Amino acid sequence: MANPLSYKTIDWVGGLDGAVEMIDQTLLPEDVKILTCRDVGTLWEAIRSLRVRGAPAIGVAAAMGVVLGTRDAADQAELFENLTRVCEYLASSRPTAVNLFWALERMRSRAESLRNLPLEELKQALLTEAQAVRAEDAAICRAIGQAGQHLIQDGATVLTHCNAGGLATAEYGTALAIMYAARENGRRFQVYADETRPLLQGARLTAWELFRAGIDVTVICDNVAGSLMKAGRIGLVVTGADRIAANGDAANKIGTYSLAVLAQAHGVPFYVAAPRSTFDLSLENGEAIPIEVRPAEEVSQVFGRVVVPEGVGCYNPAFDVTPARLIRGIVTEQGIIEPVHRDRIREVFAG
Ligand code: MRU
Repeated sequence: MANPLSYKTIDWVGGLDGAVEMIDQTLLPEDVKILTCRDVGTLWEAIRSLRVRGAPAIGVAAAMGVVLGTRDAADQAELFENLTRVCEYLASSRPTAVNLFWALERMRSRAESLRNLPLEELKQALLTEAQAVRAEDAAICRAIGQAGQHLIQDGATVLTHCNAGGLATAEYGTALAIMYAARENGRRFQVYADETRPLLQGARLTAWELFRAGIDVTVICDNVAGSLMKAGRIGLVVTGADRIAANGDAANKIGTYSLAVLAQAHGVPFYVAAPRSTFDLSLENGEAIPIEVRPAEEVSQVFGRVVVPEGVGCYNPAFDVTPARLIRGIVTEQGIIEPVHRDRIREVFAG
């Protein structure tokens, strides 16, 4: 299956003295501009401002950020000092997507395991590792698509929230990978994309990539979903996730929980699609998942225009947690976890 995006969401270009290139997602759909990050500060800002976003893509960015932050070290001791510092710094960019911390830990332990290598070889090995994180994510997303494609039958209507597509991963996406794979298998279906206030990832990003891929997509305001389900016009809901606890509770873009409640009320199956790197088995349940609260201005201003009276507060949590009992199944690169239960999750990680 060819990359439906035809752009690389994020990539490392050149050798060790190269740079991270990414589509600046804050400019979509109007402009497709590539942002080049040659230093960790630029990369941190890109994650914080959602120029690169979506849990797996943030993980790829973090891995590449470690290379940016260690490649100039003059000796081994400096490299390991810089490694600690850059990992702490990048960990402060966004709190919810566990892929960020997963990728930093992977880079840190790779460096530890190669501690005895000559300096230049060690630096090169870290670049190779970051590139592997990206390549593996693309392959994993393809596997998620294959594992879940049968959920979308000919003539289906599917609702998704936020953007869990190629833009949110190295390639293909998670929830959208299922759509791309279903289409590859000849199914025709319709997708409703929640616009996803306040930053409009559904309207700006999901609609952009599905439309470019030739998939029938219609954008709806977030508050339309319930009436569409009541009218029997949604057959399946599938979203991504930013962190999944050991019992299957899943954090995803704010509004996902409401969709899951609506789906249950209307008998619509609700699926989550995510790679193993999105599971955080150190958390018993979703209560402990840290939820990012973003600036009030993202709510009080729309396209630079103030829409909330001055002096009125806005509360802007970026994620919510959907309890496992509302999730029919979690589509992973190893197949579908269904029913969603602690023991089934443990089995996937034991294998
Ligand atoms: O704030 P964002 O745009 O990074 O939020 C992204 C999401 O909520 C996605 O659904 C999630 O990261 C899964 S991406 C495959």
